[in-house]
Amino acid sequence: MAALPLLAIRDLTVQFRVDAGWLTAIEGVSIDIAEGDCVGVVGESGSGKSVTALSILRLHDRAATRIPQGSISFQGVDLLKSSDRALRRIRGREIAMIFQDPMSSLNPVLTISEQISETLRQHQDMPEAAARRRAVELLDLVRIPDARRRADDYPHRLSGGMRQRVMIAMAIACRPRLLIADEPTTALDVTIQAQILELLRDLRHELGMSVMLISHDLGVIAEFAQSVVVMYAGRVVEQAPVATLFRRPVHPYTAGLMAAVPKLDGDAARLRTIPGRIPGPQENIRGCRFAPRCDFVQEACRQAPPPLQLAGALHSVRCPPRVVLFGNADG
Ligand SMILES: Nc1ncnc2c1ncn2[C@@H]1O[C@H](COP(=O)(O)OP(=O)(O)O)[C@@H](O)[C@H]1O
Ligand SMILES: [Mg+2]
Repeated sequence: MAALPLLAIRDLTVQFRVDAGWLTAIEGVSIDIAEGDCVGVVGESGSGKSVTALSILRLHDRAATRIPQGSISFQGVDLLKSSDRALRRIRGREIAMIFQDPMSSLNPVLTISEQISETLRQHQDMPEAAARRRAVELLDLVRIPDARRRADDYPHRLSGGMRQRVMIAMAIACRPRLLIADEPTTALDVTIQAQILELLRDLRHELGMSVMLISHDLGVIAEFAQSVVVMYAGRVVEQAPVATLFRRPVHPYTAGLMAAVPKLDGDAARLRTIPGRIPGPQENIRGCRFAPRCDFVQEACRQAPPPLQLAGALHSVRCPPRVVLFGNADG
């Protein structure tokens, strides 16, 4: 029998309070992350990637959020049922998170080493001198050149890429089992983006941690992750190992995302985008939420949301007509 995944999100639905009642931002989301694995979560802006990620550490404003169904099991414990005290212990120490904009998470009046030390002292109760030494080690580990000197800089003295390295240093300071990286390279230019992804890949191997990598860019996910979760309008629409998904995307939305990945050998004119736009959570759509944009839409698609079905051993998809088309092909 396969070992229990490190993180198992099951059938998660998250709603936010609005004037008119409750908006369903994500619905029935299930994602597994195995020990040491990297799972990529991809989808256009507004598809529910961040809502899913923030739910894991319960970082939503509690008063305006409702989780009517689902569970988030981490090392066998349901985080949705955990006390605030237990969650505080897990945050940073067991599960760490980095975001798109490192500046907004860095304190402008503390030096780099002061902020890293603060994290260390908070979670590990480390004396000041030791924390400072460890901070410099961590800056070395994330390959910040001349770390000892850089440690005394304030965040505004660093480039965007270097700031993201500092965020990564803080995130891995307590050797978390799981790192959630929500669009960590979206604000960076392409060369720096590649360097940061490479760094994350090396650290994942060196520290043996699992990574949940969130991106709107399927190219980034393909480079880095072992398996992919494709989200659309708050639902998981397809899920498969990277190679399987690229060999045989089943959902028309996945195929559309793939066509939008620029090919290094191709010309930019080949780059396509999917016509139309993603529906918001307030839009009441009875059937498949992709139906209004789908080239393969059938009458049944507009009647009821398609269930998640197997398209191969480790491959599932929310698109019945095409699954039937591809029948029993293996994943
Ligand atoms: N706090 C909130 N209150 C109301 N709606 C929200 C809130 N956070 C996110 N949403 C909505 O939920 C949907 C998914 O958002 P999000 O997870 O941020 O998308 P992504 O990260 O994939 O771009 C969006 O339509 C967004 O407007
Ligand atoms: Mg987001």
